Amino acid sequence: MPKLVNLTAHLLEQHGHDPTSRDLAAIINQVVFASKLISRDINKAGLADILGSTGQFNVQAEEVQKLDAHANQLLVELLSGWPRVRAIGSEEIDAIIDLPEHKNTGCYVIMLDPLDGSSNIDVNVSVGTIFSIFKIEPCARLTKKQYLLGGDWVTAAGYVLYGSSTMLVFSSGYGVHGFTLDPSIGEFLLSHPHLRFPDKSSVYSINEAYSPRWSEELRGYIDQAKTDRDVTGKPKKARYIGSLVSDFHRNLLTGGVYLYPGDAAAPQGKLRLMFEAIPMAFLAHQAGGRASDGRRPILELRPRELHQRTPLYIGDRREIAHLEKVLAGA
Ligand code: AHG
Repeated sequence: MPKLVNLTAHLLEQHGHDPTSRDLAAIINQVVFASKLISRDINKAGLADILGSTGQFNVQAEEVQKLDAHANQLLVELLSGWPRVRAIGSEEIDAIIDLPEHKNTGCYVIMLDPLDGSSNIDVNVSVGTIFSIFKIEPCARLTKKQYLLGGDWVTAAGYVLYGSSTMLVFSSGYGVHGFTLDPSIGEFLLSHPHLRFPDKSSVYSINEAYSPRWSEELRGYIDQAKTDRDVTGKPKKARYIGSLVSDFHRNLLTGGVYLYPGDAAAPQGKLRLMFEAIPMAFLAHQAGGRASDGRRPILELRPRELHQRTPLYIGDRREIAHLEKVLAGA
């Protein structure tokens, strides 16, 4: 492979031998196209009239930001035009978008969190787009009921992080790879091949303001984390951006765990299984990490509803396994 590798060359190199490559490349290309437009718009958000709320609320009763709505519209528009896409689920939309006109050609269901961490937009903190691509066969027989697919059916997943640079981090089952957008040429170039969680869990990311509502076990784990040292002997640090993509990305690069538990007020936590937990769990596993709802691996959960929530514990494999034992009271 040449030194400068763009996304297309990378996909061809990884999937050139299998027939899904064309489909995957086409779908990912649509996500990437939308993400370049979103990235451009986020960068000029303070200058254009696209900051703030639309004044509307989504199905989760959360205020919809203008950029949320814009990102959602772009992604849905670009993906629904592709005949291999059978259905699209979005955190911003109540019901799954069925595309009956693709019933003979569409083998893929796409799940989207168009702009995760959107409450951070107005204060210029990194946000991200999360996506997952589910494939089901034989595709022509896909019924509406089958759109709610669990982790076994993920064929690719990733996120685009709109940070100090815009990065695409994704996996199509051959490890996790990071690409950085070079805005001067409008291309994502491979910058972080074969990302793996480091063998040290030096950071824990959790919203500690909710600690009065946590279980005793979780409180004990976090208290312990404050005195623990990582494998290099350094004390652990707390880091919480409040944007899953950004927190996950930092932990993937430097080692750590992200926790969004269920608590007394919200037993299933806040995060959505289909739009946030499954795609990030797929990436975590591909990067040698682990993702759990505290008892079971996220990828083994059977979704019941499109907007289902789940507790999420994700990151360094050993630390998450240890946390599962602590939560079980072992
Ligand atoms: P939103 O997209 O509504 O801003 O939610 C973001 C998610 C996730 O990205 C983040 O880690 C978490 O919610 C933050 O929630 P808290 O503010 O409750 O900590």
